[in-house]
Amino acid sequence: MKKFFVIGNPISHSLSPELHNFWLKKNNIDAIYEKVKLEENELKGFIDKLRNEEIHGINVTVPFKNKVIKYIDKFSLEVETTDSVNTIYKSGNDIIGHNTDVAGFELGLRHSKINVLHKSIFILGAGGVVPSIIYSLLSMGCKKIFLSNRTFAKAEKLKKKFDEIEILKWGEIPDFDIVINATSVGLLGDSLDLNLKVADKIFYDVIYNPKETKFLKKAKENGNKIENGQLMFIYQANQSFSIWNNVIPKIDGEVLKIFK
Ligand code: ATR
Repeated sequence: MKKFFVIGNPISHSLSPELHNFWLKKNNIDAIYEKVKLEENELKGFIDKLRNEEIHGINVTVPFKNKVIKYIDKFSLEVETTDSVNTIYKSGNDIIGHNTDVAGFELGLRHSKINVLHKSIFILGAGGVVPSIIYSLLSMGCKKIFLSNRTFAKAEKLKKKFDEIEILKWGEIPDFDIVINATSVGLLGDSLDLNLKVADKIFYDVIYNPKETKFLKKAKENGNKIENGQLMFIYQANQSFSIWNNVIPKIDGEVLKIFK
């Protein structure tokens, strides 16, 4: 039996096992997917299990997406651009790191028929998932990316990686078509202290639990289209699954029910 894991800290909230085990069963694959909480000093030992083929694939979540890089041999272009790994596997004698958050973000938007081509995007936040979102948006041909983060220095760091983006001070609101909340505000029911009173725009929140953050609730009341990060999450898992198992698992009503 093959073994797959998601590693992170904390990890108890992760829905990855539900999703992957559902697809493994559907596709008659003799494997199991579990979540494991690790400390940073346990990362190398865990990846060694992949090296000696005790296990077959690892998903990586907060706070290790960057920290695992030093234990990996080869990387995809997405990892080189974002410094972020969420999927690890072995190919030949090499441990390979890939980042399916990039494709996950794009496929989620396409599923929802949100088109970013020639659009102006305003990103709030500069945390772990933001490089993947920027890379994805640029590859889809958006017109402009504005980015604002409470801690300005973190936004400036991203500007060094992606020269195309324009950094704004926290509280400054540009003219935009789509705004993306990539901060952690909303996870615990809090609200962003920004004056975003616009209508007929698209408001996207990377958070999918709760399904509707205050950011999205207010946006809907003001007459905007809203979207949460659930499909991004499902599609990043879908892409990891297809790398490990050579099957692209179906995303249908049954899968979406897992999140009800
Ligand atoms: P990490 O920064 O470790 O990658 P994250 O959860 O991915 O963690 O990112 C948290 C994001 O939410 C950051 O952009 C953070 O802003 P700071 O860089 O200023 O910390 C943002 N954030 C968290 N609490 C916030 C708040 N009350 N108001 C505005 N932004 C907040």
